Amino acid sequence: MTVAVDHPVAAVARVRIGDPAARATVLDAKTIETLEKTMTRIEAQLGLKGVIFTGCAPGRFLAGADLGAIEGVVDPQEGARLAARGQALFHRIARLGPITVAAIDGACLGGGLELALACRWILATDSPATRLGLPEVQLGILPGWGGTQRLPRRIGLARALDWILTGRRFDARSAERAGVVSLVVPPERLDEIAVEVADGKRELRRRPRPLAERLIEGTAPGRAVVAAAARKRVLAETHGRYPAPLRAIDVATRGLSKSLAEGLALEARALGDLIASPTSKELVRIFRLFEGAKKSADRAAADRVATAAVIGGGVMGAGIAGLLAENGIAVRLRDPRGPALVDALARFQKRIDERVRRKRLRAAEGRAALDRFQPTLGLDGVARADVVVEAIVEDLAAKKACLAEIGALVSATALVASNTSSLSVTALASAVPRPERVVGLHFFHPVERMPLVEVVRGERTSPQAVALACGIAVRLGKTPVVVADRPGFLVNRVLAPFLAQAAALLAEGLSIPEIDHIATDEGMPMGPFVLLDEVGLDVASAVSAVLVAGLGDRFATGDLLERLKKAGRLGKKNGAGFYRWPKRTLDRELPDLLGIAWAASPRGPKSASLAPTAGDRLMRAIADEASRALAEGVAASADDVDLACIAGIGYPPFRGGPLRDRARAAARP
Ligand code: NAI
Repeated sequence: MTVAVDHPVAAVARVRIGDPAARATVLDAKTIETLEKTMTRIEAQLGLKGVIFTGCAPGRFLAGADLGAIEGVVDPQEGARLAARGQALFHRIARLGPITVAAIDGACLGGGLELALACRWILATDSPATRLGLPEVQLGILPGWGGTQRLPRRIGLARALDWILTGRRFDARSAERAGVVSLVVPPERLDEIAVEVADGKRELRRRPRPLAERLIEGTAPGRAVVAAAARKRVLAETHGRYPAPLRAIDVATRGLSKSLAEGLALEARALGDLIASPTSKELVRIFRLFEGAKKSADRAAADRVATAAVIGGGVMGAGIAGLLAENGIAVRLRDPRGPALVDALARFQKRIDERVRRKRLRAAEGRAALDRFQPTLGLDGVARADVVVEAIVEDLAAKKACLAEIGALVSATALVASNTSSLSVTALASAVPRPERVVGLHFFHPVERMPLVEVVRGERTSPQAVALACGIAVRLGKTPVVVADRPGFLVNRVLAPFLAQAAALLAEGLSIPEIDHIATDEGMPMGPFVLLDEVGLDVASAVSAVLVAGLGDRFATGDLLERLKKAGRLGKKNGAGFYRWPKRTLDRELPDLLGIAWAASPRGPKSASLAPTAGDRLMRAIADEASRALAEGVAASADDVDLACIAGIGYPPFRGGPLRDRARAAARP
């Protein structure tokens, strides 16, 4: 039984969607079928004043469509039929005579929100677990069960497009401000208030939309302006590589000039086309890869971690300590430099304030997280820590000395991790008694934002240590990928040839802005020279030196980095690298500094001959290295390599990853 109706003879019926024994509720074939049957019963029920649609357990509403159903569809017509079936079901809800109320506690995403939008009133709890959104575009499709039609009719086109195009999840209060949620209630009163509303005992009002907005959006030319602005934003971000958001703009906008039924027909057709598209298949696969990455993690062991020590309170250490504290772990952050600790604490305080302000955290949770974050000048805390993360300067001797100190203090069962980005974990582990519990935990910068953690298995690292490290990464909200202890591990190794290729193109006759543009046109989140400035030229040249020494000259970027470093230009962090920051402008000194006359010009002298194949060369550099790394066993599978590249360097998701790209190219006649 996935849908239950309580009190079928009372004035208010309650439809509890889902099976409490299951882990989550999704709109799979069985749930849809049961809902259809339930609607038949409800429609036949006489004397009902109201119907409440709610979840089957606290904290659970409807987390969206069934992924399996999305990935299985390869025929657009079948996709359109799938949309039409859901639309018909939700239409029956919208047409019900009794007052309909969606009572939401927990995730209300995709089809879940489309169901709610078919109800007259939407109540949602202020619990942090309550999130509303339409994440379909992230899977390469659009909301196909009425979302592109009902949401604009409810909250206006511009705001609806914001929800549909970003796929963002909103808390109940933001959703209320947007006009999606009619009333925010405490979780313990959800049911009681829903009954009052459904019974007609409590009157609610829809939030009036601003007059100016209604005037603009009330006319076809006004809506065209809104749509054009949205299109422009999407194109600037996606370079037209993702069909779903563009199609969603079209369907939502045109639908407003038509009847709901006609709009729904447009939506169904669009869903059919998108669901069968290669982009959607890649995006669904990637979604699954992200989910799958959690499987190797020992989450139970990670949940038992109560205390941690982070050694080194610089950019990375401070970020890692903050994440640990936010996720319930009492952490000592050690740095011998007082100012580093002051900065680290200020940064953490700022982040927590921001999260509380944005309702990502309750105020009490924010205070508790701050209490768990303890800066210290000494090594106190190491002896009691379940996990120690070393994040001091990237220097083998310094790190070994530091790890030896830690090793002498730490408990017999603690995990010892290093955030090194280029040193051998095996070499570092040799400084610690019982090296089997030493592992690399390679976070990326900025720690709070980057989703990937490379879990580096040293030669002697135990499987338990790897599984626990993966578990900790998952607990911190990251995606772990296990990699071998080879130079550059995986991500830096595949990224370096891309940067080297960019340096080669520059030397051969393309300019810096031109190369950066070509890379973003291929779908990369930023061009190679912007990326180098972001990473820091000192860091980049150190990593490249390790790769050249360990694996060969294909990682060399010539003398570009050295020249800029000598001129004191280290990248964004000190205001100038290839570009001048923060405005990202190119200056006149640059060509002289690099010894390349055309470096800063809009185009280089060989633009005509080189530009057409430059994108391919850049992307192939990544793919070639990715297959070498896989062949050498740096990662366990092609899927892991693709996932690490997408999560670690922002390899364009629509392409599916470098190895996927390669396989597709090989399959072309
Ligand atoms: P950083 O230079 O910002 O911070 C290093 C901190 O370690 C400094 O505050 C310093 O006072 C402290 N320190 C030095 N010796 C110490 C010791 N014996 N005990 C305790 N603290 C000590 O460096 P950053 O960028 O945070 O890097 C730290 C580690 O993270 C390095 O291994 C680096 O390779 C790695 N990493 C850096 C990334 C980045 O983008 N910055 C990305 C990924 C990893």
